[in-house]
Amino acid sequence: MPSTQKNRIFSAMQPTGSLHIGNYLGALKNWVDLQNSGGYNCIFGIVDYHAMTIDYDPRDMPKHITDLAIDYLSAGLDPDKSTIMVQSHVPEHTELAWIFNCITPMPELERMTQYKDKSRSNKTNPNVGLFSYPVLMAADILLYKADTVPVGEDQTQHVEFSRIIARKFNNRFAKIFPEPRTLLTKSARLSSLADPAKKMSKSLGEKHYIALTDTPAEIKKKISSAVTDTGPSKRVELSSTSEDPERGAKRRVEGKMSRGTKNLFDMLEVVSPLGTHKELMDEYKKGTLKYSDLKSTLADAIINHLKPIQEKRKELEHDHDKIAQILIQGAEHCQKIADKTMEEVRNKVGIR
Ligand code: TRP
Repeated sequence: MPSTQKNRIFSAMQPTGSLHIGNYLGALKNWVDLQNSGGYNCIFGIVDYHAMTIDYDPRDMPKHITDLAIDYLSAGLDPDKSTIMVQSHVPEHTELAWIFNCITPMPELERMTQYKDKSRSNKTNPNVGLFSYPVLMAADILLYKADTVPVGEDQTQHVEFSRIIARKFNNRFAKIFPEPRTLLTKSARLSSLADPAKKMSKSLGEKHYIALTDTPAEIKKKISSAVTDTGPSKRVELSSTSEDPERGAKRRVEGKMSRGTKNLFDMLEVVSPLGTHKELMDEYKKGTLKYSDLKSTLADAIINHLKPIQEKRKELEHDHDKIAQILIQGAEHCQKIADKTMEEVRNKVGIR
């Protein structure tokens, strides 16, 4: 039984189709580790209302929701340890979002970088939902009084916004919400394999990402054709330090690594056994590393890492009843917490 003393985590993803390894390593894997640490009460959402803010086909939505639940479970989220829920199953998310809308200053939303990016790329449909997306996200988090939000770098501004809203509500009505903090994931931002200057994203096309469902042959092919050398202008500073045995002191590593190469090392660090990353990094520093070795080691490590996930996925794909049952359970658990918070909220804002 989860204890109420523990910090509460809320995080979520949008059901927009199958996940890639960047979503997995940047977020989901971290959620699984947090869950297994036993230190938190965790709720993980499938945020379908958020997925309606960009163009989508209503016929795909149910499948995308089930697919994301399968991704969560096959990656290791365990319904006995964490709560997995669909946002729209608990209508209080939108009720609280409306109340938050009414204390949100427009300029706070106007400065959100993700809104600016998305409304630029989604010119035909920059709707009000997209604009007030961070308000709904603040409601997701605060409805459960979550104080810890594990997300990738691209969401830190939104979590900061939810702190602003918590503070505003607390000052205006009554102090009932915690100010949630971001828990940044280690490998928060993987780059595209084919164009490392860009963030890994499905919208760039097949060769830019590894899907969690890719076969070993596809993984080998994509990694072996990943771009490593992007020219001197795109190099990033290596910030690590290493022991210099001759002088017995730490020294800063000289030199710069291309983004593409760093991206491969970042993946290797999380999917390979301890020691492999260090070994290859030492070779890189000595200048003896062959990129073909780095790539084949990495491809094998990814294949091995994804194998149990893919096997679990195969099992679950045919068990939609089980998935539905888990989501109902999640909704019931969340509804209880939501009822409690909303009773307090309605009371304080004067609508009961
Ligand atoms: N905006 C997040 C994303 O696109 C998804 C999300 C919605 C979320 N509500 C949330 C993440 C609450 C953390 C907490 O990745």
